[in-house]
Amino acid sequence: MTFIMDPLLYPSIIKQGRQLDFHEFTSKVAPLTFGYPPVLSSKFPGLWEQIKRSFQLLQGDHLVPLTDSMMGNLMLVFRQDHLDRDGDWRRGSLYEFCSSVMFEATFLTIYGKPATGSRHRGMDNMRKDFNEFDNMFPFLIAQIPIWLLGGTKAIRQKLISYFLPQQMSRWSNTSQFIRRRSELFDQHDKLKDVDKAAHHFAILWASVGNTVPATFWATYFLVSQPEALKMVRQEIVDVLRDKSSINESLRLSSASMNIRVAQEDFSLRLDNDRSVGVRKGDIVALYPQSLHLDPEIYEDPQTFQFDRFVQDNREKTDFSKTGQKLRYYLMPFGSGSSMCPGRYFAINEIKQFVCLLLLYFDLQLDDAQNRPNLDSRRAGLGILMPSSDVRFCYRLRAV
Ligand code: HEM
Repeated sequence: MTFIMDPLLYPSIIKQGRQLDFHEFTSKVAPLTFGYPPVLSSKFPGLWEQIKRSFQLLQGDHLVPLTDSMMGNLMLVFRQDHLDRDGDWRRGSLYEFCSSVMFEATFLTIYGKPATGSRHRGMDNMRKDFNEFDNMFPFLIAQIPIWLLGGTKAIRQKLISYFLPQQMSRWSNTSQFIRRRSELFDQHDKLKDVDKAAHHFAILWASVGNTVPATFWATYFLVSQPEALKMVRQEIVDVLRDKSSINESLRLSSASMNIRVAQEDFSLRLDNDRSVGVRKGDIVALYPQSLHLDPEIYEDPQTFQFDRFVQDNREKTDFSKTGQKLRYYLMPFGSGSSMCPGRYFAINEIKQFVCLLLLYFDLQLDDAQNRPNLDSRRAGLGILMPSSDVRFCYRLRAV
């Protein structure tokens, strides 16, 4: 496996989409991890292309109904669980708080509401199961057989069973993205009901596995710096469009690896003077965390500077190394053709969460807590979680 460490060379890798393929890796490990049959198989003609096309339903004009629905669901969960009339301080754990609100609001937005009532019953238990599965996720991606991982298989079965077609058909307000996917799974007779459910479960992981820790970090960094909290709250009040401090927290917390598998022997041109021979089957990897924390690119890289990505009231896009401007300087969502299709929705929903949180509540961290370390068990797989939770208090703001 070859790691490309010089971010100036990233464009040369990313543009080789045909020869350095991302899907060979995922199409092997995703079915093992989530428990569905391989998509790229003659049993399911055209399914892979159809799935790829469904990703468009997370972007462009389709983002509008998704974002609207997310706003309604976030407000619902905030109101019912956390907003009461008295303005007393309440105590909580910040990761748990972010996770419970974002998990449920995202679930309602993507999969829809139950037949009766506005919230699904048993969400907390489902999230508990999800977290247990998620703890084993790095091992599954490393292709450790699931039967070696204790009760993980049973937990996965249970999680998958929430998404069986007979259940999902009773839900309303389901996103167009999931409705389209259900329709296209129905066109493939060889996909059993549990296989369809396992595909829906994989999307649950994709849609909250990274967004929840990313939301935690976006919130944590703001609450831990009263000055930043004040500025960003003011900015929200002025215009509801701040992304800069979210970019900064993604820079500090993301550790996804971009893996490409060589499809043939070829000579990979790195820049004007250099090429290297790559053999079929070689793995070439980008690990943007090293770029995100490179002091030559980001001065004092471990420090959260909420306005690092702002310049002259605009988003700053100008970052360089050895005097050369970098084309890729912030890559929490991967790169090239395999880039995360949920990235616009993810940024929108984190913004929505942070906006509502800052507008609804005064927030304070309890004293004498250090910044939590990054839990590196998921290194290579996305946004890292904090190694411990953070105690905080919140109270309804006088409006
Ligand atoms: C793939 C990151 C949120 C859906 C990916 C990849 C990364 C990523 C790194 C692999 C791309 C590559 O290696 O080139 C993130 C982060 C998120 C986030 C950091 C939040 C902060 C979401 C959300 C959704 C989503 C909210 C859906 C609603 C997907 C899907 C794929 C994917 C379906 C697989 C794409 C494919 O097979 O080509 N994500 N993601 N993600 N993401 Fe996300």
